Order: sequence, then C-alpha cells, then structure tokens
Amino acid sequence: AFAPKAASRPSVAVAAMPSQDELKKQVGYQAIDDYVTSGMKVGLGTGSTAAFAVERLGMLLKDGTLKDIIAVPTSVRTKEQAEELGIPLTTLDEFSRLDVAIDGADEVDPDLNLVKGGGGALLREKMVEIVADKFIVIVDESKLCDALGPGFPVPVEITPFCHEHTIRVVGDLPALKGKCKPVLRMGSSSNNQNDGDNIAVTDNGNYIVDLVFDKPIEDAPAAAAQLKNTCGVVDHGFFIGMTTAVIIAGQEGISVKT
Ligand code: 5RP
Repeated sequence: AFAPKAASRPSVAVAAMPSQDELKKQVGYQAIDDYVTSGMKVGLGTGSTAAFAVERLGMLLKDGTLKDIIAVPTSVRTKEQAEELGIPLTTLDEFSRLDVAIDGADEVDPDLNLVKGGGGALLREKMVEIVADKFIVIVDESKLCDALGPGFPVPVEITPFCHEHTIRVVGDLPALKGKCKPVLRMGSSSNNQNDGDNIAVTDNGNYIVDLVFDKPIEDAPAAAAQLKNTCGVVDHGFFIGMTTAVIIAGQEGISVKT
C-alpha cells in the first residue's frame, strides 16, 4: 500500500516563554541596576517581585559593584532576607528621606496609581515609599489594569480593637457603600487567600480587611481619603500619586512607564 509521505516541516527553534517568576526577576534586577548607585539610601519592598530586587542588591554589594548602601526594609520578611544577604539596614528613625524605594504592586492603573498590600505590608511600605525621592514599581504585565478594583481586593489595615465595628464603618463610607464587600483576612497576612482559621495579623499587630469590588472603583482618591479619615483604620492599600516609574515585564520584553 502506498503511504503518503508526511509533509516535512522546516524545523523552527521555539523560544520558551519566560515564566511569571522569570518576569519578576527581570524587573527586580533591572530596578536595582538602573536606579541604585553607591552611597544611596534604599527602601526595600515586600513580596515575591521585590524579593528579586533585594537579591540583586545583595549580589551587587557582595561583588563590590555597589558600596555604601544602607536600606530600610518594609516588612519583617524583607528584613530577614536582607540580613541573610548582608545588606546594611537602618530605619526611618535614623533617616527620614531615602533616595529610592523599589517595590511590587497588586494593581497598576494607567495613571500609575496602585493597589498594594496583598502581602500584608502596606503600612510599612507606604511609610517608607512616601519618603523616597523616587518610588520605582516593579511588576509583570498581569498587574496592569484599566481601573483599580475588580482585579484585586483593596487591603485596609485596621486596629484589632473593635474591628467588627470598624469593618461596618468602612463598608458604610460614602465612596464604598454598596460597592464592595469587606472581608476580614484570615490565615497568613502575607497573602489574601483567607486560608486559615485565625485572623491574619500584620507585622504591626493589626488586622487586615480586604475590600472586594466587582466593578471598577469610580473614585479611588475619594475612597482613599475617606478610609484615611476613619478612626480605627491605620492605613489602606491605595497608593495614589506616589509612583515615579513602573518597570513592566511582559512576554514582549521590558518597558518603563513614567
Ligand atoms: C505586599 C505588597 C506586594 O508588593 C504586592 O502584594 C505584590 O506582591 P508580589 O510581587 O508577590 O506579586 O504590596 O504588601
């Protein structure tokens, strides 16, 4: 019997798509390479993307490329990582101004406003990043959104004291009422999976309520201002007007938005 010959195809080398972790590593490394020079005071963010920036900083200090760096970590986790890598650390009590801070984000809108705090470190992140001359955000492209809200819950750090009351007050704020579901974070503060039986506790001994939106937030600055003005709320995960530049890693390469 005559068997038709299989069509021969030219062999093409297929480039492997970088994994999400590789994309995070690319932006973490690039932020240090492009924005940190010897002698700087550097704010170190928290999360899986920021951890690559911390790794790169440790590497460049070790091989002598960078010298006289002093860094302020934004969480206990980041502090421990930096200590392991031998990065000299300080606090805002010593220095109230930093040259640069580098951190990841959960959502980035077209105006470079952010939602942060998926890892539960929003208060220390905001305190550190707000005093940096440059705040560099590092993300893979999955974090970009048209409007803040539906893609990722907005974390709000609240005091444990009468937290159920504070959660009700937050849910009733004019900018939020009927627009989101406040959910007390359970399990580990370092994710928002609500994966444990205990209330998640932040590095500051507080609780987190995640505001779950099913539609884009109409007026994020108004929601941010009302949250900030609420007794019992320590801070919130809206980072409005703080970003200097966003380094974005995608399958097509790296781009920077300012
Ligand atoms: C921690 C944060 C993180 O920066 C944010 O959750 C992004 O984390 P990752 O880089 O792991 O996606 O705000 O509080």
